[in-house]
Amino acid sequence: MSSDKLRVALIGAAGKVAAPCHLHAWQLVDRGELVAVCDVDQRSVDQIGDTWGIKKRYTSYEALLEDPEIDAVDIVTPPFVHANMTLAAAAAGKHIYVEKPMARSTGEARSMIDSASASGVTLMVGESYVFQGSHVMARKLIDAGEIGDVLHVRQTKGPWVMRPEELDRLEGKGHFIPWRVDPELSGGGPYPWLMDHGAHFFATARYLAVDEPIDAVSTLAVDIAGTRDEAVGEARQDSVFSVSWRYANPSIDGLWTRVSSPPEASEFVGFRTEIFGQRGMIRVFGEGGGAPAGREQPPPVSLIAGGSTRTFDPNDGEDRSWFSNVNYYDRAHANALQHFVDSISDGSPPRYGGEDGAADIGSTLASIKSAIDGAPVRVADLPLDWTAYGA
Ligand SMILES: NC(=O)c1ccc[n+]([C@@H]2O[C@H](COP(=O)([O-])OP(=O)(O)OC[C@H]3O[C@@H](n4cnc5c(N)ncnc54)[C@H](O)[C@@H]3O)[C@@H](O)[C@H]2O)c1
Repeated sequence: MSSDKLRVALIGAAGKVAAPCHLHAWQLVDRGELVAVCDVDQRSVDQIGDTWGIKKRYTSYEALLEDPEIDAVDIVTPPFVHANMTLAAAAAGKHIYVEKPMARSTGEARSMIDSASASGVTLMVGESYVFQGSHVMARKLIDAGEIGDVLHVRQTKGPWVMRPEELDRLEGKGHFIPWRVDPELSGGGPYPWLMDHGAHFFATARYLAVDEPIDAVSTLAVDIAGTRDEAVGEARQDSVFSVSWRYANPSIDGLWTRVSSPPEASEFVGFRTEIFGQRGMIRVFGEGGGAPAGREQPPPVSLIAGGSTRTFDPNDGEDRSWFSNVNYYDRAHANALQHFVDSISDGSPPRYGGEDGAADIGSTLASIKSAIDGAPVRVADLPLDWTAYGA
């Protein structure tokens, strides 16, 4: 850090989902400042720069990387450009925060790790689920031994319930922008949505099982090969029903399921995890998690042990995008970005670095391969150059 604040450039600043979230989140971060914005179109970059009072504006990330007054890049572009941008940023000596999913193959992820390491810069992957206040609180309870050894991690993705103002901003399209449903651009082949969400739930599954690695995965999905061109948006989500996994420690296992009944027919919405231990269990709400509108919100974290229930609330406020009392957008992202700044200034490795990003890409790709093959897949058996779109 060459000044008292880390000088950061946001690449992909005109994006619809991650960029607004990071623009808000950087306002909450100490000792880090957005000094430049970059995207492909000058008009949108100028608009973002004017709105957020950011003077440096670039339409070429290569040009931005030559700017000596930039210490770090925050990459919020789609996955198909993550590797190239990371390699170039590392070669230019910039610290790197790159959004999940880190890459489209484990080989790409490895090259990103190696180039950051060779240049001596920090590489952190934007896996905000493991920085969300409720998840961090649940992990503290587990570390404190409140539920004993972890035996089973069960995750549910219920319906997302977007705030009306956010739905308006996204012109009713939600998060389904073209690259997200494209087999190659997303990196997910016939299961782009699994590629997008898998990085999140595998990261959380490892975090809440005290960093236990994932050994093998099995996915239950419908074959949408014949409907690839027609199946868009929610239909693609609906093609994957469940993913189960075994950890390296054979006494622990995990399960993720998708439940898309309408909110008014659901007890809970959004993402939640239940962690079962030898002596108790924890229920924790994550992104967009809670009760549907009009119902009393459950506590973000509940611990059931010793015959009683205790509840916990990180008091992070409400979410800006989802109807939820756990603040994913923007607090979880601000927590992660703060950790990035702190890691650089302390000279310590980030809690979710390149190796973590690569591990969760490995599990995600294995889950897609399992959906394609109709059989369980061991993560270690996946070739470094395997991609879901080339399968
Ligand atoms: N952690 C999270 O919760 C979270 C949430 C949303 C998105 N994401 C991730 O963030 C990334 C972006 O997602 P999004 O939904 O915001 O996408 P988006 O399409 O809305 O935005 C991406 C932006 O990148 C820009 N871009 C593309 N190529 C570029 C280039 N060569 N130079 C400069 N800009 C370029 C595009 O023009 C676009 O404005 C994805 O990897 C996604 O998975 C993470």
